[in-house]
Amino acid sequence: MKAVEIDAFGGIDVLQIRDVPEPEPAENEVVVKLSYAGVNYTDIYRRNGDYARSPTYPTPLPARIGVDGAGTVSAVGNAVSDMAVGDRVAFTRIQGSYAEYAAVPDAVVMPVPGELALDVAAALITQGTTAHYLATSAWPLEAGNTCLVHAGAGGVGQLLIQIAKIRGARVLATVGSAEKAEIAASRGADTTILYREVDFREAVMDATNGRGVDVVYDSVGKATFHDSIRCLRPRGLCVLFGHASGKVDSLDPLDLSEAGSVFFTRPHMAHYIQTRDELADRWRDLAGWALDGRLAVAVDRVLPLDRAGEAHQVMEARESRGKLLLEVGGG
Ligand SMILES: NC(=O)c1ccc[n+]([C@@H]2O[C@H](COP(=O)([O-])OP(=O)(O)OC[C@H]3O[C@@H](n4cnc5c(N)ncnc54)[C@H](OP(=O)(O)O)[C@@H]3O)[C@@H](O)[C@H]2O)c1
Repeated sequence: MKAVEIDAFGGIDVLQIRDVPEPEPAENEVVVKLSYAGVNYTDIYRRNGDYARSPTYPTPLPARIGVDGAGTVSAVGNAVSDMAVGDRVAFTRIQGSYAEYAAVPDAVVMPVPGELALDVAAALITQGTTAHYLATSAWPLEAGNTCLVHAGAGGVGQLLIQIAKIRGARVLATVGSAEKAEIAASRGADTTILYREVDFREAVMDATNGRGVDVVYDSVGKATFHDSIRCLRPRGLCVLFGHASGKVDSLDPLDLSEAGSVFFTRPHMAHYIQTRDELADRWRDLAGWALDGRLAVAVDRVLPLDRAGEAHQVMEARESRGKLLLEVGGG
């Protein structure tokens, strides 16, 4: 089968498409014949070595890239009793989904209802689960809360805005262009902030009458992090969940005090789907909202597996507006 692997960390040229053996399922695994593999920013961190020392997301070389996807079960391990060959499924949190087949632990495999298209399921499983835990667990948003979402037209951003609105919060969103502002507004953002044209912190303070927001969801990192903390109301929370602009390498605890005794967390999704039930609860909400029309899932573009590098390039150049998928088998 074909798979995309790296032998060294680096730019997109380290991505190699190779012929490799098809996987066999271990006891607690199923093998999924991929229809679509998802492209996530975390694939870039794995490719460029940002996660080289992460015990949660280890990347021993050579490594196969890709954490999620959707397709059909093609083989079932001996200890798996609730899935069968032919089941439509989506999965997340593996290493190596840029491939025609992937062996996946049953704890991270979710059923895809018949009415939900496999491209939508592939687009939703990781970015949706992320948006879900951010809005319901990292800071359980409720009516009366105001949040700031960075990269509001991005894959996670669009979903997070919508889930925050489902939970009754007011949403401010930063975006990199007027066209992206329209996307964020169409997903429900109450206020959009073009951070290239205005100081986003000043815009947040204006929009909140100087109070600041209850929570900032920051996936941009180095470029935004310090001002994100200063956008908070006293005892608010900064959730730094990504670093598209570069890693945050230092944090002075006194900056948190001076910003209003605010809280700070840097979560990994892995710790918010610690059990199969926890993932299943989130997936039930997400699939339900997608099916009843409350959650629009934007598939930006679909590229063939051998153009994975181009997908990474699009994402790093800030050209994506929603989910990028690699088509493996279609369906
Ligand atoms: N911790 C977790 O559990 C978890 C799980 C999944 C994803 N994530 C994180 O969530 C974030 C969003 O992921 P995604 O897949 O949905 O990507 P995305 O938001 O669709 O793409 C990244 C966006 O970040 C913004 N950005 C700002 N500065 C940038 C820079 N210097 N380089 C590139 N982009 C920049 C751009 O939007 P503008 O043009 O509007 O600025 C860009 O489109 C990533 O940081 C990812 O690591 C975290």
